[in-house]
Amino acid sequence: MKMHKKKLFSDETVTIGQNSDVDNYIMAIESSCDETACAIVKNGREVVSNVVASQIKTHAKFGGVIPEIAAREHMDAINVVIEEAFSQAKEKEGINPEDITAFAGTAGPGLVGCLLVGLNAAKTLALVYDKPFIGINHLNGHLCANYLDTDLKPPFMALLVSGGHTQIIDVKSYSEQVILGETIDDAVGEAYDKVARLIGLPYPGGPKLDKLAQEGNPKAFQLPEAKVGDYDFSFSGLKTAVLRLVKSFPEDERPIADICASFQERVSSTLIKKLKKALQNSGYDTVVIAGGVAANSEIRKKLFALSDEGYKVYAPPMKYCTDNAAMVASCAYFNSNTFDDVNAEVFSRVK
Ligand code: KG4
Ligand code: ZN
Repeated sequence: MKMHKKKLFSDETVTIGQNSDVDNYIMAIESSCDETACAIVKNGREVVSNVVASQIKTHAKFGGVIPEIAAREHMDAINVVIEEAFSQAKEKEGINPEDITAFAGTAGPGLVGCLLVGLNAAKTLALVYDKPFIGINHLNGHLCANYLDTDLKPPFMALLVSGGHTQIIDVKSYSEQVILGETIDDAVGEAYDKVARLIGLPYPGGPKLDKLAQEGNPKAFQLPEAKVGDYDFSFSGLKTAVLRLVKSFPEDERPIADICASFQERVSSTLIKKLKKALQNSGYDTVVIAGGVAANSEIRKKLFALSDEGYKVYAPPMKYCTDNAAMVASCAYFNSNTFDDVNAEVFSRVK
């Protein structure tokens, strides 16, 4: 049960989430990196509106996200995405701003200047409409993308792969999660982006590398697998191995597609091997993937192959893999692991 106190205006308490006796419409805002997003989700699963303004074009010019510029772009986009989310909800279900049960915003981890824009917008909406405010951990949000439009229920094993994180998480219940292992250096998405840059692909490199890999031979080169703990990962050695391999060819003779395919094969097989081990040891019958890299074609293929072994497999559709606010709204509904008053502050790293 979730009890929220609205500290600034009143001491009234409201129940939000699965124990609420009315339909919950939660509006959430996400602005942790380079997407300004706003969504309204009914009862944690039903997406009523979902608006994402991407800054990819801006940052492509610089080859990566420039935090100060990203924060300014969020300022330009924030009102537009909020208005659009309200208008989609009005059109679809006749929902007005006054009908929103609570307002949620990503509190971290992420770029502080960017987080401040979205979090303060969500807090302001909560104050204006006199509703509760809920601060959300972005990583929990990615996990909850799996609840959107599905009937998924804990317990399950999760692989969280994003630009900043790589974790195997034992999701014991909606609110209890145990991190079994994580990367000791680069995150998977980070490794993709770095390897993409060193072979000359433009930002954002991950999806482009994935595309090239599909045209190459995954067995062309045997790339090394890091020796770390059972459920931990390390990708910096692999990145160096790719750099060495690339440099071993003259610039105009580099078998780029084969290199991409071999890199993708090593990454995907390592991730799925460890995930499967965690899954077997847990005795669970359900496995999910989450985060921006969950959009990767080969990782999805290997994950879905687990269904041949009798496992129930969930992977969010592409639009809910990368940063969005629907996953944040779902998290506000299901997850009690939140910071829930208007004094909640942003944070850059995992708490
Ligand atoms: O979850 P996300 O949107 O942002 C973070 O919270 O970090 O993930 C972004 C990351 C980037 O590193 C991007 O290159 C990677 O996800 N990514 C991919 C693919 N699509 C996005 N990496 C590999 N293959 C893809 N298809
Ligand atoms: Zn993310």
